[in-house]
Amino acid sequence: MIGKKKFGIEIFDRKAFEKIKDAKILAVHGGPLSFLQREDILQSLNVAAERFATVIHPKAEISKNAKIGKDVLIMAGVIVTANAIVGDHVIILPNSVIHHDCNIEDFTLIGANTTIAGNVRIGKNCYIGAASSIKNGITLGEKILVGMGANVINSFTREKKLIGNPAKSIT
Ligand SMILES: CC(C)(COP(=O)(O)OP(=O)(O)OC[C@H]1O[C@@H](n2cnc3c(N)ncnc32)[C@H](O)[C@@H]1OP(=O)(O)O)[C@@H](O)C(=O)NCCC(=O)NCCS
Repeated sequence: MIGKKKFGIEIFDRKAFEKIKDAKILAVHGGPLSFLQREDILQSLNVAAERFATVIHPKAEISKNAKIGKDVLIMAGVIVTANAIVGDHVIILPNSVIHHDCNIEDFTLIGANTTIAGNVRIGKNCYIGAASSIKNGITLGEKILVGMGANVINSFTREKKLIGNPAKSIT
């Protein structure tokens, strides 16, 4: 796509980061097949941490007591309640609820219409599939993939693929 236009906007290569020095950067790629590469791809951009932007849709509701990191995209209809912590390079797709005292660690993607109940800890670089629910107090280790519509009622250690109700590991 480099050199072409999409929606009337020109597409540059990575040299644009050097050429347009005051441009902020939002890097929020990653589907269920590629989410494990997010950290490496972000590091390969080789840009200073202060250049990352955080973008929050005006129709999202974020508690004044929540903490939101850098290079975070929060889409319409998302609710983040009191004392929740959202790390760096996190994406939260539309209509998801991150309830009180949750901790969503860096590089994690939260799909659309998910319910993350209170006091849940989601480790680094997880992928939480659309319309899934995670019970209050649960801890998920890093690099866990939660399949679409799963109902997670137990904690799991790292690098699992969870599906179903109640969610079970298939790896
Ligand atoms: C879990 C997922 C990653 C598939 O993983 P996979 O290893 O490729 O698994 P497969 O497609 O080979 O399916 C393996 C088995 O799990 C079942 N399965 C797959 N995804 C499932 C899901 N979300 N819920 C219940 N069962 C599921 C399949 O039916 C299959 O069952 P079978 O062995 O009895 O035939 C994928 O289905 C998924 O849910 N991705 C998330 C998509 C999403 O949320 N997208 C929107 C983000 S906003």
